Amino acid sequence: METNKEKNKEDKSSAKKKISFQTPKGMRDLLPTEYVFWDKALSVASDVADFYDFGRIETPILEYSALFSHSVGVSTDMVEKEMYVLKTKGGDSLALRPESTAPVMRSFIEHGMSHLPQPVKLWYFGPHFRHEKPQAGRYRQLYQIGFEILGGESDAIFDAEIIIAAVRFLEKMKIKKILLEINSIGCRQCRNPYKKKLQDFYRKTIVSSRTKKNKTACKDCERRLEANPLRLLDCKDPGCAEIKLSAPSILDSLCSPCRTHFKEVLEFLDIVKLPYALNPYLVRGLDYYNRTVFEIFTEGEGGALGGGGRYDYLAEMIGGKNTPAVGVALGLDRVINALKEKEVNYEFKKKERAFIAYIGDTAKKTAFALIEEFYRSGIKTFSALGKDSLQAQLKVADKERCPIALIIGQKEVYEETIIIRNMRTGEQENVSMTRVVEEIKKRLHGK
Ligand code: HAM
Repeated sequence: METNKEKNKEDKSSAKKKISFQTPKGMRDLLPTEYVFWDKALSVASDVADFYDFGRIETPILEYSALFSHSVGVSTDMVEKEMYVLKTKGGDSLALRPESTAPVMRSFIEHGMSHLPQPVKLWYFGPHFRHEKPQAGRYRQLYQIGFEILGGESDAIFDAEIIIAAVRFLEKMKIKKILLEINSIGCRQCRNPYKKKLQDFYRKTIVSSRTKKNKTACKDCERRLEANPLRLLDCKDPGCAEIKLSAPSILDSLCSPCRTHFKEVLEFLDIVKLPYALNPYLVRGLDYYNRTVFEIFTEGEGGALGGGGRYDYLAEMIGGKNTPAVGVALGLDRVINALKEKEVNYEFKKKERAFIAYIGDTAKKTAFALIEEFYRSGIKTFSALGKDSLQAQLKVADKERCPIALIIGQKEVYEETIIIRNMRTGEQENVSMTRVVEEIKKRLHGK
């Protein structure tokens, strides 16, 4: 038991540390008016998933940290700088998931899904955590909807299907001016010689810009040059962005199977008339990608609405057998911000409800029981149970635009009747309590 002395001590130290009882930085509450967008997104995603035959999956929010360091990559920002890691009492290192592609593949392997008819198509929705610098469109708890196709062949048709599913989701959410940027980063065979080409180019450029005192690559990129040269193309630093423009393009280095694969992806997109822009500098920050990578944008400064790509090596990186796969994740926070910017509104549509009002304590009990009877009959009700004045209760009924109010007073309790008041015309009639559910069903739903 906590003593007063201990409590005082704790209160004093809280004051010293200025404990804030607000949401942690970069995180927020989703209030009911905001949640309308989330509900809509979930139902749209579920429709799209149903159409393209994706089954829903939910993986834990915590995973072993090694899952991400082995797949996303130790030298990526996501693992190196942004992952929330905690040590358990048993000494395990767990991480709040920063993304779900590695967890979904972990689940595919753990549950032997390679024995199911291939490929396996999965989708998910949920919170992810990245300790990034909070700014517009960048949260530390972010929500993603993802579609993944795992197993089967490394067939370009699946890359196209994933992109189409993502675009259809955005269209159905009423996102306008969808821009798809796409690239291929090749395979193990063609990527390594390209990485070398890139390193040579950057080494030369960095040395020559230093001697000419021109803008040069940032410190992070000087480090990436050895550890993860593809990431040089991903850097947003103005000096690095300028250097990138004259860097060799990976598309010129693709091997013949990768070139054919990429050509086929683009052909499938052409067939369904889905426009795209080639971006030879798009590499995406994560180690597990190969071949197709893409990002989806709309107008404005909100950042990518979604991104994804093929990840044929991921299964092997986390101890599984060769499993071709491709997927996408859409950032729901950003999709919803983009809708709000364009003033797309999803109404908080309430079904018409019957209002239940009472006069006096006995009637209050009857009203309370009646609400449950309506629940069992599937009729939605509204009430203001804490307000004892009938006038105040009917004011709420008006505000909530309830078409009908059911009023129970002392007399009605004894006579086992109820007053049905038409809130639009003010007309009232008495109905027997035994008939009330049936009567309201008829009036609200025409049944
Ligand atoms: P990602 O590009 O890291 O990819 O994230 C996908 C989307 O999540 C981004 O395009 C963005 O909309 C949203 N997002 C990312 N970080 C934040 C943030 N801090 N705040 C708000 N939104 C954010 C992945 O996560 C991969 N797992 C995608 C994938 C699926 N690749 C294959 N399958």
